[in-house]
Amino acid sequence: MTFPYTKEVLEHFRNPQNVGKMEDPDGKGLEGSPACGDMVAVYLKVNPDTLVIEDISFESYGCASNIATASMITEMAKGKTLEEAKKITWKEAANALGGLPPVKAHCSVLAVEGLRSAIRDYEEKHGMVVENEATTVEVVSKRLKHVMNPMAGLDIIRTELVLKVVVEEGTVRIVLDIPSTHQFAVAIKEDIVDKLESLWDVESVTVDFIS
Ligand code: FES
Repeated sequence: MTFPYTKEVLEHFRNPQNVGKMEDPDGKGLEGSPACGDMVAVYLKVNPDTLVIEDISFESYGCASNIATASMITEMAKGKTLEEAKKITWKEAANALGGLPPVKAHCSVLAVEGLRSAIRDYEEKHGMVVENEATTVEVVSKRLKHVMNPMAGLDIIRTELVLKVVVEEGTVRIVLDIPSTHQFAVAIKEDIVDKLESLWDVESVTVDFIS
């Protein structure tokens, strides 16, 4: 069988580096591709004094190109400072893989967005981002696109798990279309709180269920 991939892509796809969920990451990012609906999660351990990425891993729910690029960018980012890692582009990653079919460019963009999202998460949690945009329903909904619905392998907005978002005077209330006894209720709630409590003007986040 002839693959449309270089030997570097196939090598990183078959033996991906830095795969797996990280316990207690300092920063994590989850990004989905509007082009194909696939997702990638990136986890970071960062030295707080030097801001060097000391460890990094990823989980991919995407295709061979995405897995290979995520493997490559995690290798490229390891040992770099956050500022240096932010500058890694999908083109650099694709070049390092010997090129990707043009139709697969979005797969490497997705991997790079996962890395940038994890860096931003770290920066927000460590007070490195100066925010002045007030939190609105739109801002919250955008963040909720980074919370996974484990039942579907897609985010909770696209899978219509979110029934209601209310933003009022520093409080955010989310209503989910699952009962509180659901096997994933606690995990989804924790992920939502994690994504929203770092917003600069949010004091409390409540997650309610249909029953
Ligand atoms: Fe979705 Fe490649 S087709 S990540």
